Amino acid sequence: MKLYRASNYEALSRIAANLMAAQITLKPDSVIGLATGSTPIGLYDGLAAKYAAGDLDFSRVTTVNLDEYRGLPAGHEQSYSHFMHSHLFDRINLPKDRCFLPDGTCADAEAECRRYEALIESLGGVDMQLLGIGHNGHIGFNEPAEAFARDTNCVTLTRRTLEANQRFFRSIDEVPKQAFTMGIGTIMKARKILMLITGADKAEALAAAFCGPITPAMPASILQLHPDVTLVADEAALAQYHV
Ligand code: PGA
Repeated sequence: MKLYRASNYEALSRIAANLMAAQITLKPDSVIGLATGSTPIGLYDGLAAKYAAGDLDFSRVTTVNLDEYRGLPAGHEQSYSHFMHSHLFDRINLPKDRCFLPDGTCADAEAECRRYEALIESLGGVDMQLLGIGHNGHIGFNEPAEAFARDTNCVTLTRRTLEANQRFFRSIDEVPKQAFTMGIGTIMKARKILMLITGADKAEALAAAFCGPITPAMPASILQLHPDVTLVADEAALAQYHV
C-alpha cells in the first residue's frame, strides 16, 4: 500500500485530484469507479477546476459508481445520481451516456445486480476505483458481515449507516433502508484503488482496516490483499495508524 500523508482535508483533496488527473492523462479512456459521501467532494471540486483550466479532458472517460440507494428515483435530490451530477458530471465534459450508477428504481433487485456487474465486465473492468470508508469499515455499502459479498448486491443498511446518512434527510425514517452496491469482489477486481480517509472520527476505522486482521467484520480490511492500493489520508485520520 502506498500512503500519502496530507496535513488536512484541502491537501488530501489536492493530492487525490492530482492522482486521478494523472490516471486520466495517462489513459484517456480510463474506466473510473466513483464514490459519493462528504469525503470526495474536494476531489471533485479539484477535477472540475482542472477541467475549467483546460488541463483535463473527460471526453473518453467512463465512470461507474460504487452504489445507489434503492427506492429513490435518479432525480431525487438525495440519490447518488443527483449527487454525482451536481458535484462532478455537470461540471465537466464527461459524456452523459458514459456515467453509470445502479438503477435505484429497478423493482427486480437481483436482475439489477446482475445487469450492473455485467456492465462493469463489458467495460473491461475498472482502472481506478475511488473509495471512502464508513465508521464501521464499510466500503461502498458493503457492511460488516460474516462473509465478503462477491458481486454487486442489494444490502440492508445497518443502523449505524442510517444514522451517519440521516444528516442528508429530514429524519432517519426517510433514509432508504436498502442500497445497491458493488460487491467486495467487484471492488477487488479494480486494477487500482484510490482510498481517501479524512478526520479524527475515521482514525479507528483506518487503523482497523490497514493494521488489523482481514475479516468481513471490517470490510475495508480486504484491501490489504489488493496489489495496488493508494491511501490518501490526513493527519487526523492517521492518528491511530502505527506501522
Ligand atoms: P463519508 O462517507 O465520506 O460521507 O464519510 C464515506 C462512506 O461511508 O463510505
